[in-house]
Amino acid sequence: MGRCDSLAAFTEEPGRITRPYGTPSLAAARDTVARWMRDAGMDVRVDAIGNLRGRIEGSDRPAPALLLGSHLDSVRDAGRYDGPLGILVAIEAVARLRARQQSLPFPIEVLAFADEEGLRFQTTYLGSCALAGAFDPAFLELTDGDDVTLREAMAGFGNPHALADAVLRPNEAFAYVEAHIEQGPYLESVDLPVGVVTGISGQSRILASFKGVAGHAGTVAMDLRRDPLPAAAEIVLSAENLARQTPGLLATVGTIDATPGASNVIAGQVRFSLDVRHPDDAVRNDAVRGLERQTREIAAARALGVEWRVAREHPAVHCDAPLTSRLAEAVSAAGLPVELLPSGAGHDAVVMSEAVPVAMLFVRCGEGVSHHPAESVTTNDVAVAIDVLDEFISALTDERRQ
Ligand code: GLV
Ligand code: MN
Ligand code: MN
Repeated sequence: MGRCDSLAAFTEEPGRITRPYGTPSLAAARDTVARWMRDAGMDVRVDAIGNLRGRIEGSDRPAPALLLGSHLDSVRDAGRYDGPLGILVAIEAVARLRARQQSLPFPIEVLAFADEEGLRFQTTYLGSCALAGAFDPAFLELTDGDDVTLREAMAGFGNPHALADAVLRPNEAFAYVEAHIEQGPYLESVDLPVGVVTGISGQSRILASFKGVAGHAGTVAMDLRRDPLPAAAEIVLSAENLARQTPGLLATVGTIDATPGASNVIAGQVRFSLDVRHPDDAVRNDAVRGLERQTREIAAARALGVEWRVAREHPAVHCDAPLTSRLAEAVSAAGLPVELLPSGAGHDAVVMSEAVPVAMLFVRCGEGVSHHPAESVTTNDVAVAIDVLDEFISALTDERRQ
């Protein structure tokens, strides 16, 4: 818990936690986590995209590794547990194995991913994409709000020329297991410290804009305006209505930017993001297609230009059944009932599932609050998560030794 507090101090915005990809605050947080990894007996390296990888060897050096971890970057004005908790729980589990000199038939790596949230480049999962072999070289030309390319941001933080080396080799790993705060209220409602994740909702992230004509708020008559802001208002409400009427669908316009941006100027352009999620990919795809059609119709009716770009799309992921059963057994071994639950939030496990079987353990969080500074977990619940992960690794160790 103290380490989560320490990491909260690494931020680009004093007074609140904002730690995007490739920034000095993320590099400093990474250095600190590297020190904790070394203290736990791990060899540490930074890969091409800037992920931190701490490794402890097994007795059988070439054996595929068990990968644990989560992400170190954050959203804007974040809480202190989304991401870091999963890294720190994993480091602590490894420290315990070392402390009791448990011999390992396989290596363990703890991963601290450099970009999961996609705050800076609107991308999501850049860190795990690099490992899973899902990094599209076109990403390198993406730009942030200051027109810095990802390639430029990567230089000094990682190495844009060595991306091929970051990809997991065949048989380099046999599983990825991530602990994470639930980010929802379910575990609190059933009064349990941890739960086992069955799968993760699919997600579409869209960047869209309406283009009209800027003008004087006091002189351009209402029927002569080509104002993109009311058009954006229409689609924001449409997205909300659609999601309210479609069971399980979530739709969020999380950013909206009207330019030039003055109270006495009609906006000339409005850019906005749209995040659409559902556990069933067909429902999500239908929703995205419907919202795109509506966006284009609204633009046509108001004589506006329109752009619609799907920035990222990830299908729903099922956690690996055998690995998930083992995690459930570890929860039982800790004397707790096993609660299975789906994840509405995205996680690095989504992309890692393209390379290795994945499983996830959720830790109860206060009132389901997340992506918010009020995010909270209790020391007891975190202790349970460490016990469960420790038990899970020990059981795997016994099984693989036989
Ligand atoms: C990550 O936190 C996401 O679900 O967007
Ligand atoms: Mn998050
Ligand atoms: Mn997260």
